[in-house]
Amino acid sequence: MHVLGIESTAHTIGASVVSEKGIISNVNSVYIHPKGSGIHPREAAIHHSEEGPKVIKEALRNAGIDINDLDAIAISLGPGLGPCLRVGATLARYLSLKFSKPLVPVNHAVAHIEIARFACKASDPLVVYIAGGNTIISTLVDGRYRIFGETQDIAIGNAIDYFGRVIGVDYPELINVEKLAMEGKEIYELPLPVKGQDVSYSGLLTAALKLVKEGKKLEDVCLSFIEHVYATLCESVERALAYTGKKELLLTGGTARSLILKEKLKYVAQEHDASFAVVPAEYAGDNGAMIAYTGFLAFKSGVRINVEESYVKPMWRIDEVDIIWHTN
Ligand SMILES: Nc1ncnc2c1ncn2[C@@H]1O[C@H](COP(=O)(O)OP(=O)(O)OP(=O)(O)O)[C@@H](O)[C@H]1O
Ligand SMILES: [Mg+2]
Repeated sequence: MHVLGIESTAHTIGASVVSEKGIISNVNSVYIHPKGSGIHPREAAIHHSEEGPKVIKEALRNAGIDINDLDAIAISLGPGLGPCLRVGATLARYLSLKFSKPLVPVNHAVAHIEIARFACKASDPLVVYIAGGNTIISTLVDGRYRIFGETQDIAIGNAIDYFGRVIGVDYPELINVEKLAMEGKEIYELPLPVKGQDVSYSGLLTAALKLVKEGKKLEDVCLSFIEHVYATLCESVERALAYTGKKELLLTGGTARSLILKEKLKYVAQEHDASFAVVPAEYAGDNGAMIAYTGFLAFKSGVRINVEESYVKPMWRIDEVDIIWHTN
């Protein structure tokens, strides 16, 4: 069985083929925003419509499969940016109709979790999914990824990227803010916004930017900001570990490529006698493989969607999706 997966929720248009043998191709093209600005949804959508057909053809070619021999086409219908989502969805609907292939809806957040479970061979993990648009602590309970902590406002990756853009570092902002933080010496006190199981980053971001405006040494502000952002996440993860009693901690999403956070979460896991794993870098940021792989699991379990009903869902939550392919 061969499933083609298409990803286009934000900055990346990706395509991949997955079969019983595993991930047999994974081709991705990333829209890089201009320095100082975030992702412009229309510009990213133009990038995706120009690159999409090439990316899909290359994924099929690398997999050595003719499009007629596919069994299904999986598409990431949300959450994400409307203009970007619509490019991938249009391509997937077209291919589904033209080649008479079933269409399989995939939730992008579920896909970040499934690819990490697959790549790290995790069986029943507490998952920390951190990225540009999401910050979610979740585990599978009664057929859904339930949320045991999330951001009440902006996502962790977005908070750090935004901070990086204001202070003028290059892309990828998160990595460059962390590099500056490694040269910092002094930690200023900032808010530690843990609210129940949840975190919140907008006030912390404002407070850190205020220190920048006051002319405090940039390396020290970066260190203070990063330490506080990560401390809130670790606190929330710790609460979730204590509550759920899970013995595997799994880190996924684009921000899992952080240079600093892994060590902190590894320590949190150790304190709770849990193992710790991080999704490999090639599957951390958005990619076609995570959609093809999740689509493969869903299709095998009978999940399909009619083209007429395949609306994009920019706000599609992870806990709205029935996970019928795992027993726990
Ligand atoms: N080497 C890197 N290159 C690009 N981004 C990186 C890198 N390392 C870490 N990041 C972080 O990855 C985040 C993007 O993650 P991902 O690709 O999953 O994003 P997203 O799809 O925009 O968000 P979401 O999954 O929440 O919808 C950015 O916010 C950035 O901070
Ligand atoms: Mg993502």
